[in-house]
Amino acid sequence: MPHRIPGERLIAFFSRRGNNYVNGTIVHLSRGNTEIIAEKLQHLTGGELFRLETVNPYPEDYRKTTEAARRELQQHIRPELKGKMPDMEQFRLIFLGFPNWWGTMPMAVQAFMERHDFSGKIIAPFCTHEGSGMGHSEHDIRMLCPGAEVLPGLAIRGGSVPGADGELTRRLHRLNLC
Ligand SMILES: Cc1cc2nc3c(=O)[nH]c(=O)nc-3n(C[C@H](O)[C@H](O)[C@H](O)COP(=O)(O)O)c2cc1C
Repeated sequence: MPHRIPGERLIAFFSRRGNNYVNGTIVHLSRGNTEIIAEKLQHLTGGELFRLETVNPYPEDYRKTTEAARRELQQHIRPELKGKMPDMEQFRLIFLGFPNWWGTMPMAVQAFMERHDFSGKIIAPFCTHEGSGMGHSEHDIRMLCPGAEVLPGLAIRGGSVPGADGELTRRLHRLNLC
């Protein structure tokens, strides 16, 4: 019988509220897709939720956000993170959630990863997306955290977020995460 991976869980995520593409149409999201998945994970695992926020919020407008995100990616800009960071010492397993932005994680997530030492920890990445899945984010996470064990990512399409509970539960059991 497989055993649940021991240790405290952190669910660190970045998510943007506002206008976004879902199934080919721009819609207003009062709660971000990744935020909803993070909350479901919190409910299923009992982990601690931590929302990554930038000092300068991204525009509510979808297209302006894509432009800002592309500029950050191309110019290797790390946006300044807001607030107090979690005490990483106490966590063994980190669920790391983000929307797929231009094929990888947003630069705010990169900034978070560069700020902490993930050696000896287990990272379970998850993302929401509009067709690109995890993109090359898992590769990027491995490059940023060579001392961590990075589990296979879970990618959920934006339109499937409300009904994702079954898939989340199955995945958590398969990876012995709950
Ligand atoms: C700046 C930006 C870039 C995006 N790039 C991609 C992409 O490369 N591939 C993709 O499948 N979806 C892309 N999307 C769509 C988001 O990944 C998707 O809408 C996601 O569910 C949003 O999550 P959130 O509501 O938690 O922010 C992009 C969205 C934005 C705002």
